[in-house]
Amino acid sequence: MEDVKVGRRFFLKSGGAAAAVASSVVIPIHNANAATPANPALGSTTALAYPAVAVGKVKGMPVNEAVSFNYPDDSSMCYAIKMGVPVAGGVGPDSDIVAYSAMCTHMGCPIQYDGGSRTFKCGCHFSIFDPEQHGQMVCGQATENLPVIKLSYDAKTDTVHAVGVDGLIYGRQSNIL
Ligand code: FES
Repeated sequence: MEDVKVGRRFFLKSGGAAAAVASSVVIPIHNANAATPANPALGSTTALAYPAVAVGKVKGMPVNEAVSFNYPDDSSMCYAIKMGVPVAGGVGPDSDIVAYSAMCTHMGCPIQYDGGSRTFKCGCHFSIFDPEQHGQMVCGQATENLPVIKLSYDAKTDTVHAVGVDGLIYGRQSNIL
């Protein structure tokens, strides 16, 4: 049998290379029987169903004024607004009613609706959101849009219902607690 002399430097180099290869090998593990777990980091993704909560009747709803209600539970204040003109995502006979979480996405301060500029404003650090563009963050410290409260309209009863949330309500890991 032939003697092979391996120098210390070569040994260390090849050992290092082998370790690098070993550390980069990915062994896929798949368990077909495992259920996909809910991931709270995905925000509005939840296994629990959203409730349907009546916001109010369209007739008599003020135009360009915020109407407060709570959704999906009592600790989450929201605003619905009848904008007076059709807007993105608007419901109702005039496609002009939208709703949003009333908590700023920056640090959770309550926002206020300003009918003059037709925007939501946060007095804490001056973020501004556009209710006519899906709650888009216009400027300020916030980096995310307002969570949209999904609405449905029942023409028979002339009633708007909140039926879901698109986006994560500030301070929550899941919109449904
Ligand atoms: S909490 Fe609204 S801008 Fe900071």
